[in-house]
Amino acid sequence: MMNYLIGIDLGTSSTKTVLFDEDGNVIASAGKDYPLYTPNNGWAEQKPEDWRDAALETIAKVVKESGVNADDIKGLGISGQMHGLVMLDENGEVIRPSIIWCDQRTEKECEEITEKIGAERLIEITANPALTGFTASKILWVRNNEPENYAKCKHILLPKDYVRYILTGEFATEVSDASGMQLLDVPKRQWSDEVLEKLDIDKSLLAKVYESPEVTGTILPEIAEKTGLSTSTVVVGGAGDNAAAAVGTGVVEDGKAFTTIGTSGVVFAHSSKISIDPKGRVHTFCCAVPGAWHVMGVTQAAGYSLAWYLDNMGVGYKDEAKEKGCGVYDLINADVEKTPIGANRLIYLPYLNGERTPHLDPDCRGVLFGLSSMHTKADIVRAVMEGISYSLTDCKDILSEMGVEVNDMMACGGGAKNGVQRQMMADMFGCDVNTVTATEGPALGVAILAGVGAGIYDSVENACRKMIHKDPAKECKTNLENKAKYDKFHEIYKNLYGCLKEQYKEIAKL
Ligand code: XUL
Repeated sequence: MMNYLIGIDLGTSSTKTVLFDEDGNVIASAGKDYPLYTPNNGWAEQKPEDWRDAALETIAKVVKESGVNADDIKGLGISGQMHGLVMLDENGEVIRPSIIWCDQRTEKECEEITEKIGAERLIEITANPALTGFTASKILWVRNNEPENYAKCKHILLPKDYVRYILTGEFATEVSDASGMQLLDVPKRQWSDEVLEKLDIDKSLLAKVYESPEVTGTILPEIAEKTGLSTSTVVVGGAGDNAAAAVGTGVVEDGKAFTTIGTSGVVFAHSSKISIDPKGRVHTFCCAVPGAWHVMGVTQAAGYSLAWYLDNMGVGYKDEAKEKGCGVYDLINADVEKTPIGANRLIYLPYLNGERTPHLDPDCRGVLFGLSSMHTKADIVRAVMEGISYSLTDCKDILSEMGVEVNDMMACGGGAKNGVQRQMMADMFGCDVNTVTATEGPALGVAILAGVGAGIYDSVENACRKMIHKDPAKECKTNLENKAKYDKFHEIYKNLYGCLKEQYKEIAKL
């Protein structure tokens, strides 16, 4: 008899739900988009109710379309955008929109956190410096600015854990996502009493912490009725989107790493030992493999840079694609390929929403440097794609500096489907870049965790060895001649931030 598993990926632009058989084959999949609200420069919010509706709708769709017997769906895992703050009242109702990962409003609260805990001690416990993206500063922002909302708050959850609450009625989280709250003792994999006390946050507001493959509950009867699931389907801890993507690309052992381009971009390396950057430029989090960690650098606006460009400057691409009946990316790739490395001396800094790695600066913003009357939209789109890749190269360089060994780089996420982008990264990184045959990344990753929780596989590592395969047809070999050319522009790219640092602060004050 075949068993089935569901993986849900609660992204920033949409939720995608995939039903797999126990061998990892996709049986049915469904997605639903929702909006992101920017009520102020640097703010980013979403409605938890949109995530709930998207999850319920897409689960119902895949269950129905697959025709699979509900009792054969043994487990469900949820992955999702990390760091977002969901506040619920005593009745489990959402109090205010979620302040999500890319929101940058909490600079003052980060100073408050550093002052109360001490910069060094904070990195020792939470493995990261106080960051605007992380949940703790968002909690303090609500307490400082909306005391009436804070007073009503009885439960604090991360985005995917809110969906879990809807499905199971349980207030639970797991180590990989909880690592991004800045309230977890990352070396010890449990809430930090010291941080909670010093920040005066009541521990009872937080959910119970599990390891990622552990069972956290089962489907509520009313949800089973709505979605077609069975009340015996177990819901496992799941993982933050990157920790889930790691499982979905087989990055579960030392030496393995992946890079992903979604809205944000990430370079992620597995590490069986905890390794912390004392300068805090990359994150160290618990990973979805029990007892292991990962180190990861984050580019805030990776895929988002291209999406923003297409929506606001390169609008011609969309119209042309419609006219010709082809994909927007076919047009972009043709333009990128006919433009030389360096985009005719045009450099893009992808700091649309501030930046994490390597600058940790909420005030910096995007730049197109070197604009000339000779430049066309082809140069600009190439510069944007190169800027995203320079930023990911900065992430990879810091991991090497920390001695985290990478000898096997995988690519995943929407942006990595683009062969031109993958080749660009292979050339800049100076190492080959591979992909896996399964394109479902985080959804597959949490389905695998669900399979471990449901007892179908005995460990995350063994499940990956069986189910994850490289796609040899898509291997991108590094070209060192190209690397030498990129390196020259990358040097200027790196210097630009230093030149602009003070001016970013000045303009932010206006
Ligand atoms: C990771 C991070 C992003 C979000 C959104 O720290 O902020 O990857 O999870 O995808």
